[in-house]
Amino acid sequence: MVGIPVILGALLGILHLLYYLRQLWSRRLYPPGPFAFPVVGGLWRVKFGINANHKTLIKMADQYGDIYTLWAGHIPMVFMNGVEAVKEGLTMEEFSDRLQSPFIKTLSREMGIGFSNGLIWKQQRRIGQATMRKLGVGKKSVEAQIEAEVQQLIEVFSRKKGEPFDPALATTNLVCNVICALTFGHRFPLEDGRFRELIDAIEYIFKVGGTPFHILYEVLPSVMDHLPGPHKKALQATEMVVSLAREEIQRHKEQQSTHEPQDFIDFYLLEMEKEKTKHDPTSTYDEENLAQSIHDFFIGGTETSATTMKWTFILLANRPEVQDKIVKEIENLLGDASTCYEDIRKMPFTNAVLHEIQRYRYSMLMGVGRQATKDVKIKGYTIPKGTFVMPNLRSALLDPNHWKTPDEFNPDHFLDKDGNFVPKDGFLAFGAGTRSCLGKDLARMELFLVVTHLLREFRFKPPPGVQKLDEEPSMGLTLPPKHYKMCAVPRYS
Ligand code: HEM
Repeated sequence: MVGIPVILGALLGILHLLYYLRQLWSRRLYPPGPFAFPVVGGLWRVKFGINANHKTLIKMADQYGDIYTLWAGHIPMVFMNGVEAVKEGLTMEEFSDRLQSPFIKTLSREMGIGFSNGLIWKQQRRIGQATMRKLGVGKKSVEAQIEAEVQQLIEVFSRKKGEPFDPALATTNLVCNVICALTFGHRFPLEDGRFRELIDAIEYIFKVGGTPFHILYEVLPSVMDHLPGPHKKALQATEMVVSLAREEIQRHKEQQSTHEPQDFIDFYLLEMEKEKTKHDPTSTYDEENLAQSIHDFFIGGTETSATTMKWTFILLANRPEVQDKIVKEIENLLGDASTCYEDIRKMPFTNAVLHEIQRYRYSMLMGVGRQATKDVKIKGYTIPKGTFVMPNLRSALLDPNHWKTPDEFNPDHFLDKDGNFVPKDGFLAFGAGTRSCLGKDLARMELFLVVTHLLREFRFKPPPGVQKLDEEPSMGLTLPPKHYKMCAVPRYS
């Protein structure tokens, strides 16, 4: 006789199988991808985020095509690969929403610029962009602030007297303080406790992103919400950044500085006053959106820019001939005078090198995800409304159909045969379309000023006895170099 527990067990098994087959049926219209097991989905293909390789997601396109689906548990993520598919994905109106995963929703509260959608995003982006323009990003006023930070960096490098040192902290200090100056109207002394907390918080958020704890939170948020772990600490770190922004907003309100606006908070508070007189109940200009937007500047602008600069030092230290050529270009153009950002137009080789650094060792693993605003048909597949979409920027920057030597550092990618700078369609480091990077002009300016000012003062070299600094990235949401030391030897002593 077969016992009742066996019959119940078999029934449960059949029900589970039917449920699974139903899921397979409902998934048939998605682009293909790695086999999705119950619970874990296709995450086995990326080793559950443990020790994955930065090219894994790109190589999967060889197997499944330029558009494929990776199931994170029960959540489909549609990846787009290669310049054409990525560009299409970035610029399609239907993919202009930012993805709203459980972790992102908790982290962003669906406010601010970077991770909101709809009217909130529209209004916050508008004032973010307008303020950047008013503050003169891409013009002289911000340039002076960046130059002040570059001088600090030169002092730190000088104090090392050509001995090996790790430039990471000084670099992060620079990019973070530029954002402080822009948003708060002041920089912090490097030893300031609140400033150190801010930098630690930003670094921690990125450290947790992409780890199994983060992925588990995305798949099982209600369980992970009740468990301690790095994911909880990352959310606390977010709260730290927002609360620092709130303190600064309060300080601005007490000082009533809006009659002569000097920074992002001033301009935003002024906009809030104007909006009040319109009595528009749908207006989203408020202090919480302001605090979250400031958070987004720090999260969007610190790790990305600092990682780019850390790569810059390594790639230049390994290529003395490139350093010399940049210095020659500056000297031919300006003699002893120092560079300003405008000069970039007359410095094609330097411009090409800076682009190639960002292409060859891109700071992000893939970019920032989007979400379908409606059902979309693309290349014969149906991508339902709400699906997470990931135009993989790294795959565009390494696309063999667009770059002559994608895996080699080669400034010629951005130069014509006469040595003129040539912008390239495939250079999508800052995304594209309505959600493209809000800080790209600032990031470009910083990189140019850091490189041109520092190379006038120093030659970057690997430490004595080291032939070449390691160019393999470490894995995460950003892909910084592994910890390293280099020498900044004074050029003219
Ligand atoms: C090398 C440095 C940087 C890189 C590589 C970078 C890259 C990106 C990328 C790929 C996106 C998403 C674009 C898209 O979806 O099409 C983005 C968005 C964004 N970035 Fe940057 N970024 C950098 C620096 C900065 C800086 C310095 C700031 C601000 C101070 C900043 C603020 C933002 C913001 C606010 C967004 C969200 C825009 C939106 O959703 O409307 N970024 N960035």
